[in-house]
Amino acid sequence: GNSSRDAESHWIPPWASDPITGGHHAPSDCSPGKSVLILVPYRQREQHLAALLSYLHPILQRQQLCYSIVVGEQYGNATFNKAKLMNAAFLESVRQLRRFDCVVFHDVDLLPTNPFVPYNCPAYPRHISVSIDKFGYSLPYKQLVGGVLAMPVRHFLKVNGYSNLFWGWGGEDDDMEARIRSVGLLVTRPNPRLARYRMIRHQARKEILNEVRYKLLYLSSKRYRLDGLNSLSYSLVASESRPLYTHFLIDLGQPPRSSSFY
Ligand code: BGC
Repeated sequence: GNSSRDAESHWIPPWASDPITGGHHAPSDCSPGKSVLILVPYRQREQHLAALLSYLHPILQRQQLCYSIVVGEQYGNATFNKAKLMNAAFLESVRQLRRFDCVVFHDVDLLPTNPFVPYNCPAYPRHISVSIDKFGYSLPYKQLVGGVLAMPVRHFLKVNGYSNLFWGWGGEDDDMEARIRSVGLLVTRPNPRLARYRMIRHQARKEILNEVRYKLLYLSSKRYRLDGLNSLSYSLVASESRPLYTHFLIDLGQPPRSSSFY
């Protein structure tokens, strides 16, 4: 089927005072250090996306941020690869839209419930989704960087982006945490009272095999130089400026066939 149609939304909600076509908004001039790319990896979560956009735009506008919301959708039926999808959507955003100072990788199922949650550009990688209802509003483990993660673009380039090898749910964020540590950076976190999220319930995606996950994670700090933005291949199937976001439909290819690994 045509999965790109899933994410389509031509309804413009009443709070969208200006049309925010393509998901871009700039209150005045985008002063240096202040231009935020919000990047949402996506497939078949139409209602989640509509909800997230209705939360994000008002919050980002109240915070007077210069931002663009980009939805990267994985084309086809191959196993979902969130990290590779984020790499590809990041590169397309930088090529097609403009210069960004930082990028916020944002799960589609996490709704920010405090308007003061900081979405501005941080000086260091900032794990934002600190308090999620599903985890009893506390961090499940201290190395977690999954959910909502902001990074200065220069730091995202420094770690060579995400790994491209995590086909299926889980582990790609732990690999990113190892990358960040490998290059000597620290992860910061906002005040947990501000960084509260509600997770939308949904059916879980197929998980990556534990033995594959641990094999990959064991070598994260060695692998990151060779596996990431510099080894990425994909093809852009479609790109479109929609009322509330820019949409990139991206073909990531197929996972390796070797069934002992995937
Ligand atoms: C997975 C992560 C995930 C975390 C929280 C870990 O076991 O490896 O990818 O973000 O659990 O759900």
